[in-house]
Amino acid sequence: MANVAVLGYGTIGAGAVKVVQTNAKIIEKRAGQAINVKHILDLRDFPGDPNEDKVVHDYSVIENDEDIDVVIECMGGTEPAYTFVKKALLAGRSVATSNKELVASHGAELIQIARDHKVNFLFEASVGGGIPIIRPILTCLSAEDIEEVSGILNGTTNYMLMRMEEAGCSFEEALKEAQEKGYAELHPEADVEGYDACRKIAILTSLAIGQQVDYEDIPTEGITSITADDIKYATIMGRKIKLLGSSKIRGDKVYAMVAPFLVDEKHPLAGVTDVFNAIFVHGNMVDDTMYYGRGAGSLPTASAVIADVIDCVKHFGKNIRIYWKPEKKELSDWGEFSRRFFVRVREDVSNADIQDAFGKVDMITLGGYKEKAFVTESIREDEFKAAAEKIGELINVIRLEG
Ligand code: HSE
Repeated sequence: MANVAVLGYGTIGAGAVKVVQTNAKIIEKRAGQAINVKHILDLRDFPGDPNEDKVVHDYSVIENDEDIDVVIECMGGTEPAYTFVKKALLAGRSVATSNKELVASHGAELIQIARDHKVNFLFEASVGGGIPIIRPILTCLSAEDIEEVSGILNGTTNYMLMRMEEAGCSFEEALKEAQEKGYAELHPEADVEGYDACRKIAILTSLAIGQQVDYEDIPTEGITSITADDIKYATIMGRKIKLLGSSKIRGDKVYAMVAPFLVDEKHPLAGVTDVFNAIFVHGNMVDDTMYYGRGAGSLPTASAVIADVIDCVKHFGKNIRIYWKPEKKELSDWGEFSRRFFVRVREDVSNADIQDAFGKVDMITLGGYKEKAFVTESIREDEFKAAAEKIGELINVIRLEG
């Protein structure tokens, strides 16, 4: 029997215990031995909870218990999660985590420590919740030169954009609805400003190229500037507005960004609605692939955590190689990347001035609006910025994808 300790008895930690206990029989067959939750670390008590006798408040109980084989970390944030996980690995215990902040900030180092101690540090649940994406990149696509990873990595904002389209409501109304439904995180800025998606695309990009990408280097825009009017324009253009974490890899150059994009309706990501997440990966041999499912929530995320625990148990004494060099990759400047842009300007900006600044454009007309809107040809981002400065104040700009 393998004994596990769960750090954090919140949404994901409680889900992890439930998955282990509900699916005990099938998990035992697949892991080759039973998995037993021995301790649960949390600051709180849980009177009446069927697992209340397992709750401890001091990490040293877990640290000093020789029976613990695998630590499940579901605390979130970097500290004390980092300290506890590092101690566990150094003590020869494998770790499964759902913690994107921990993986984005310390993933490469923790993978190395796990390798040095012939244990495992696995983190399938840290991106895309219950969606298999880490293992597909590391295993199924390991023969690929990955050229793009782009994803809808945040369910809350995807839900909000869907409601803005369906109900024609404002950003504020959609956020209120998302909060009422319990989708938005404690601090909605992590979702709506794109910070959550930023950490996730940093992890995926690091894995795709096998080298550390610092999330702080990734230009990040959220959806706070998106209005119901932008969504109306998107609809007449046959596009959907989606918050994407996107990395385009061109040889040694990596262009990573989080921003709202006008995605062509034919693009596989365009049909991903509600709180669902999806990750599109393009490899040079396999072509386009996509991974879809619930990117958050207690049981979907916990299911991925426990799959990692099973992998740890199946590989006791053996490290599963994960290629993620700790040396930081310098990201390339998006300024040199070319794409089309959708632009809204005041009605009194002349067509001649628009053409003078941006070159040939396609005008987009939405009846009843006292403004002008257009789509540029494919131009470099730095050229776009220079052109936009000639016009002065823009009502809004959204990049096109596909
Ligand atoms: N707040 C996140 C989302 C869930 O809405 O997708 C966890 O990463």
